[in-house]
Amino acid sequence: MKRLCSLKVYSLLLTLLILCSVARSQLRTDFYASSCPKVFRIVRKEVQNAITNEMRIAASLLRLQFHDCFVNGCDGSIFLDGDDSEKLAFPNRNSARGFEVVDTIKTAVESACSGIVSCADILTIATRDSVLLSGGPNWKVFLGRRDGLVANQTGANSNLAGPTETIQSILTKFTNVGLNLTDVVALSGGHTIGSSRCGVFNTRFFNFSGTGAPDSRIETSMLSDIQNTCPAENGDGNKTVPLDRNSVDLFDNQYYKNLLDGQGLFASDQSLATGNETLTETTRPIVELYSQQNQRFLDDFVTSMIKMANISPLTGTDGEIRKNCRKVNS
Ligand code: HEM
Ligand SMILES: *[C@@H]1O[C@H](CO)[C@@H](O)[C@H](O)[C@H]1NC(C)=O
Ligand SMILES: *[C@@H]1O[C@H](CO)[C@@H](O)[C@H](O)[C@H]1NC(C)=O
Ligand SMILES: *[C@@H]1O[C@H](CO)[C@@H](O)[C@H](O)[C@H]1NC(C)=O
Ligand SMILES: *[C@@H]1O[C@H](CO)[C@@H](O)[C@H](O)[C@H]1NC(C)=O
Ligand SMILES: *[C@@H]1O[C@H](CO)[C@@H](O)[C@H](O)[C@H]1NC(C)=O
Repeated sequence: MKRLCSLKVYSLLLTLLILCSVARSQLRTDFYASSCPKVFRIVRKEVQNAITNEMRIAASLLRLQFHDCFVNGCDGSIFLDGDDSEKLAFPNRNSARGFEVVDTIKTAVESACSGIVSCADILTIATRDSVLLSGGPNWKVFLGRRDGLVANQTGANSNLAGPTETIQSILTKFTNVGLNLTDVVALSGGHTIGSSRCGVFNTRFFNFSGTGAPDSRIETSMLSDIQNTCPAENGDGNKTVPLDRNSVDLFDNQYYKNLLDGQGLFASDQSLATGNETLTETTRPIVELYSQQNQRFLDDFVTSMIKMANISPLTGTDGEIRKNCRKVNS
């Protein structure tokens, strides 16, 4: 009985601790309730326009939030132009996209409420809308982030995981920003929409000189499809293919079904379900759960997205509200 009690006290303390750390970051769902209540309507409309023009933009915006938040926190640092920009870091160069759409949204928001809404918050709202308009879940976003004053190209090169990394190595990058293995599996579900350049994964599918046989985990029809679609060695590595070949534009749990079928595009995707990594034993049951229960995936994805969007935000008087997302205010 005594033990039970102290267990309860401990979990109460833990809950308080978590609540306090959320409170300290000061993000709130009603942050713009009086200063810019129109922001939600404006962002939704601009994202809708962009998606009508090109469906893939939803995926590109989602990836931008991931790449922004893992580098100096969710501070809009990915939007800054320049030689030292994060845009030119290896994980972003020639693949991060959606910057013009963010400019368009920012212009629309500025004309309604000048100097009020940060680029970091605009991306957070636009990302939620992108997921929703792709058939995914809706959720209330926490707001009040301010924009950072520096880009961190070195940080972008070191904090963002690559498609051939082990789960252990990816997990380390996630735990560095306060996320855990459940978040790795749930957020990897972002690969249910969008595309990738052949050049970043094709060695898995071909026996290019020196790279060995194709990965034996690949399902046969996918193997021949990719071999027919992606160019041979020294071809145009910029050609793109869908991350989820069975429902590229729909935000659902098909990504996890693909993994159980040997239809993951990246080694880092496939290893969540099959392969010889020790952590696969822990991630596979989560993949199975999400593949069977779409709602459970969507709920966990939302939980992890809120956690990710809460990484080290600048609040209060830190940073600034950028006028132009591409450069710090003068
Ligand atoms: C777990 C480690 C991850 C790795 C190794 C990884 C790797 C990649 C790579 C290599 C690409 C293609 C880039 C290119 O074409 O050059 C990509 C695209 C994408 N990633 Fe990830 N990613 C990871 C996690 C995430 C997370 C957490 C999200 C969001 C929640 C995400 C969302 C996306 C989306 C939506 C795209 C497609 C973007 C577009 O079509 O423009 N990824 N990822
Ligand atoms: C850049 O990111 C790295 C890795 O997160 C961090 O250690 C470093 O302090 C950051 N530098 C700046 C100038 O923010
Ligand atoms: C990760 O954190 C969430 C809370 O955000 C928790 O529910 C989950 O059990 C954790 N997963 C692991 C593997 O620790
Ligand atoms: C891969 O190609 C090399 C020569 O380029 C060849 O020796 C080897 O047998 C091939 N492996 C498979 C599995 O086809
Ligand atoms: C992909 O496109 C970029 C930018 O246009 C170019 O610099 C690069 O050489 C291309 N890469 C490949 C593998 O064709
Ligand atoms: C583990 O699997 C990968 C590909 O799935 C393979 O390249 C690697 O050699 C394997 N490692 C061991 C120790 O079996």
